[in-house]
Amino acid sequence: MALYSEKVMDHFRNPRNVGIIEDADGVGEVGNAKCGDIMKMYLKIKDDIIEDVKFETFGCGSAIASSSMATELIKGKPVSEALKLTNKAVAEALDGLPDYKMHCSVLAEEAIKNALDDYYARHPDIAREE
Ligand code: FES
Repeated sequence: MALYSEKVMDHFRNPRNVGIIEDADGVGEVGNAKCGDIMKMYLKIKDDIIEDVKFETFGCGSAIASSSMATELIKGKPVSEALKLTNKAVAEALDGLPDYKMHCSVLAEEAIKNALDDYYARHPDIAREE
């Protein structure tokens, strides 16, 4: 069996939503101290909907595929759904990651959560959903 699923290879080769959002409503950056990989997520939010999301990932193929899939999973969705996104859901949507690559999907979950934290910090008038 191939080490990586076709979906992982597809999102690694053709990552969706790569880039930055200049006037983002929330930005989150995380890194993994062990491998040194870094992921940054930008969110554009309007009326509680993730209107746009972009990422920059300096990291391994699994981190790039995880970022790409995570952006696809939250784009157009309510903030409450993005808050619930888990690394497991990202890995499942990619048809799995090898065990020792699961931490790469954790970066995607954390980057989105950090970007949402930043969104709430910038908009104290908006009540946080859980
Ligand atoms: Fe570090 Fe994949 S090896 S994020």
